[in-house]
Amino acid sequence: FPVENIRNFSIIAHVDHGKSTLADRLLELTGTIDKTKNNKQVLDKLQVERERGITVKAQTASLFHNYEGKQYLLNLIDTPGHVDFSYEVSRSLSACQGVLLVVDANEGIQAQTVANFFLAFEAQLSVIPVINKIDLKNADPERVENQIEKVFDIPSDECIKISAKLGTNVESVLQAVIERIPPPKVHRKNPLRALVFDSTFDHYRGVVANVALFDGVVSKGDKIVSAHTQKTYEVNEVGVLNPNEQPTHKLYAGQVGYLIAGMKDVTEAQIGDTLHLHKQPVEPLPGFKSAKPMVFAGIYPVDQSEYNNLKSAIEKLTLNDSSVTIHRDSSLALGAGWRLGFLGLLHMEVFNQRLEQEYNASVILTTPTVPYKAVLSSSKLIKARRAVQKNMMFIDQNRVMLKYLFPLNEIVVDFYDSLKSLSSGYASFDYEDAGYQTAELVKMDILLNGNTVEELVTVVHKDKAHSIGKAMCERLKDCLPRQLFEIAIQASIGSKIIARETVKAYRKNVLAKCYGGDITRKMKLLKKQAEGKKKLRKIGNIEVPKDTFIKVLKTQ
Ligand code: GTP
Repeated sequence: FPVENIRNFSIIAHVDHGKSTLADRLLELTGTIDKTKNNKQVLDKLQVERERGITVKAQTASLFHNYEGKQYLLNLIDTPGHVDFSYEVSRSLSACQGVLLVVDANEGIQAQTVANFFLAFEAQLSVIPVINKIDLKNADPERVENQIEKVFDIPSDECIKISAKLGTNVESVLQAVIERIPPPKVHRKNPLRALVFDSTFDHYRGVVANVALFDGVVSKGDKIVSAHTQKTYEVNEVGVLNPNEQPTHKLYAGQVGYLIAGMKDVTEAQIGDTLHLHKQPVEPLPGFKSAKPMVFAGIYPVDQSEYNNLKSAIEKLTLNDSSVTIHRDSSLALGAGWRLGFLGLLHMEVFNQRLEQEYNASVILTTPTVPYKAVLSSSKLIKARRAVQKNMMFIDQNRVMLKYLFPLNEIVVDFYDSLKSLSSGYASFDYEDAGYQTAELVKMDILLNGNTVEELVTVVHKDKAHSIGKAMCERLKDCLPRQLFEIAIQASIGSKIIARETVKAYRKNVLAKCYGGDITRKMKLLKKQAEGKKKLRKIGNIEVPKDTFIKVLKTQ
């Protein structure tokens, strides 16, 4: 395939602005997938993605399109839209020369529109603005055009107005991809230089690495070397993604595809690594920012006998998600487990959900925390969250973009929900790392009848300890079922108690409603109670339902 007829591009957008729907239409229009089938988000493959309507893992597809008598190969690299996954966006972009920036014609520019635009801009990619959902009653494409001109300095006449849902004007998107995005700058005669921009794990075939070829050719049987690990492998299979894997004889510079070479786990095919031929070393491609975990949580089996099963489930899941960091950990109350690092809260929830859905694992997650650097020795919504305003810009009369410096721990738990409800859903939010700052922090324990609840140990700002401790005790009181004895719930800093609630004693008799008679009904109820108990955790002699920890957490 001539290089000048190849285009590598991504679609970037704020969540729900219609990126996956546009991808489906592009796949249909180019005949990559059948139009008659019900194509809803073909590239969203995971069950969690379909359930939550979000893209978690980037997917790739190669499309063929005839335009003005020539055939073009268009490699579409799908990207996730949520703030937690901007790392996946930036690594997908490194394989592209251009992007379609999709903006909802009703909502206009949102936080991740801005964040994603700058990722593309920094990577020096051509940006094609696409205003989607023009079929909506409240659509105001002209207003969005003006926002795009003002915020991104892109002339408004460069915007393409479409309805991805109805397929309106999607043809001109393909035309713009061909006309406005340059072909990749590559050299087929040079020795192989391939960028690994994603990798997944397959039980039968090992690691499947998605690669973009910058120089040379790779064929089945070639001996290749990872520039990062210096390990040598033999290529078992190469191919393109249509969007399913389709083996080919070779992959040429300019192409995007997959490669299988007997790598046993994703750490052997690290994102950003360069592959070259054995004995033909090349200058590695510039690596990019590696994933940086922002939120940490302990993860433990509900039952210690499940430790080995959980271990293998976590290992399998992280084989596919190299952005999760793992360290072994143990706790007096919870036994042996792990401390995992995630890109954000959603990432953590998705990971937990996948463990439960795909591996049938039952786990306890501890309070998520953010990284602190501690120096050992003997502080509207915005103010309450210890933020400092940095910048403000009016996008148009109705919308303003604000930049603040926030302590990360103030935004990891429920900031997004509070912001959405305060602004009646109008505000959107994105963040990036701004380094460490000094702060007065204290470690706060939550005690049940004097026993520390390991899951709820938190580091909090000194000025907020009292109110957070009080709120956690109150919420715990609401969540804890009454037991046969009284329970004292306390928050403490060191030996100082800063808040207290009490749960009165109560005897739960599940048979109380069964008047005499029906023995099978009684057995059923007793069985149900026994099952319920499995979901409980004992702290001292107190039984705590598993979901209590997450519920209590939300109050912070
Ligand atoms: P993430 O994968 O989470 O980033 O979302 P997305 O940007 O891929 O959005 P998606 O394609 O899932 O679309 C979000 C919602 O908008 C879906 O309910 C679509 O049916 C709807 N939608 C997409 N395009 C259009 C359009 O042109 N018009 C209308 N009315 N609705 C659309």
